[in-house]
Amino acid sequence: MEFTGSHILSIQQFEREDIQQVFRVAAQMEPYAQRRKATRVLEGAILGNMFFEASTRTRISFGSAFNLLGGEVRESVGMDSLSVVKGESLQDTARVLSGFSDIICMRYPEAGSVAEFAGASRVPVLNGGDGSNEHPSQALLDLFTIEKEMAGRGRGIDGLRIAMIGDLKYGRTVHSLGKLLALYDNIQIVLVSPPELQMPEDIVEIMRSAGHQIEVSDSLEPSIAHVDIVYSTRIQEERFPDRQQADLYRGRFRLNQGLYTKHCEPNTVIMHPLPRDSRAEANELDRDLDGNPNLAIFRQTDNGLLVRMALFALVLDVVGLVEDYACDVPWHVPKTPV
Ligand code: NCD
Repeated sequence: MEFTGSHILSIQQFEREDIQQVFRVAAQMEPYAQRRKATRVLEGAILGNMFFEASTRTRISFGSAFNLLGGEVRESVGMDSLSVVKGESLQDTARVLSGFSDIICMRYPEAGSVAEFAGASRVPVLNGGDGSNEHPSQALLDLFTIEKEMAGRGRGIDGLRIAMIGDLKYGRTVHSLGKLLALYDNIQIVLVSPPELQMPEDIVEIMRSAGHQIEVSDSLEPSIAHVDIVYSTRIQEERFPDRQQADLYRGRFRLNQGLYTKHCEPNTVIMHPLPRDSRAEANELDRDLDGNPNLAIFRQTDNGLLVRMALFALVLDVVGLVEDYACDVPWHVPKTPV
């Protein structure tokens, strides 16, 4: 695909070689993300970071990634602050905001809304999550993490065995990840959810058409037994009519260290897009897993910074200039590995 000036709206825009390109650039970003070096390559550029649905890590990750490339961030957060509540169309909002920014990241509660916004934007728009539809940057950082974790085990993405667990109906991260895995070969996927929250059929079909082996289950223990990756997700309470409906499913698939030791292969990687719902009634990834070296959830968030820096550098066409605008950093904040 042509990255320069493109909107990033769906994972289906990408071919396999595009993914490798994103990952190559992401790896080049490591010294900057680790603050061993700084770059001012995006000095003067403004990111409009527009999040009209709850977000902590995606919003701050996009913003920090832009800052780490030397750019500035303007934010608008929460539905109440948006002129749509005064009756403005998303298109008019896009025309106005794209006059103030050089690139926009947007999260909005309706499926297809970010594409609608992008259609009227005068600058590239990156989808930070549109309802239960897609979350492409999350899928990229998830796969980047999978590639790194598997490389440490002498394996690649082809031939991967993965269990996706939880709310597969409303979870946009698994929708995008499922579509992304369709670019690879010979993947075994176990889809573990309550029958009412199964993966949408169109996404199952995309994975099946890629030749992948798909198994559907509503039982955790047998599903985590022979996989390389356990990818757990939160019940997407905000997509349910009310809290009581979500409560019917909350806590259905809880993984803790005891179950992991009993059922998983010794090196099984545990992933989650976060936030994990740590309330007692949900507790989908128990805190007793925190000492497990295969828990990759905070490596995922660290990797997110690299992948989002890569997306900005590719879309704004500065990959080859990052180094030219680099300088040394006179300070250092040591961080413990996660
Ligand atoms: C996810 C999302 O917003 O879709 N979070 C994230 O961006 N990392 C998953 C979730 O909220 O459950």
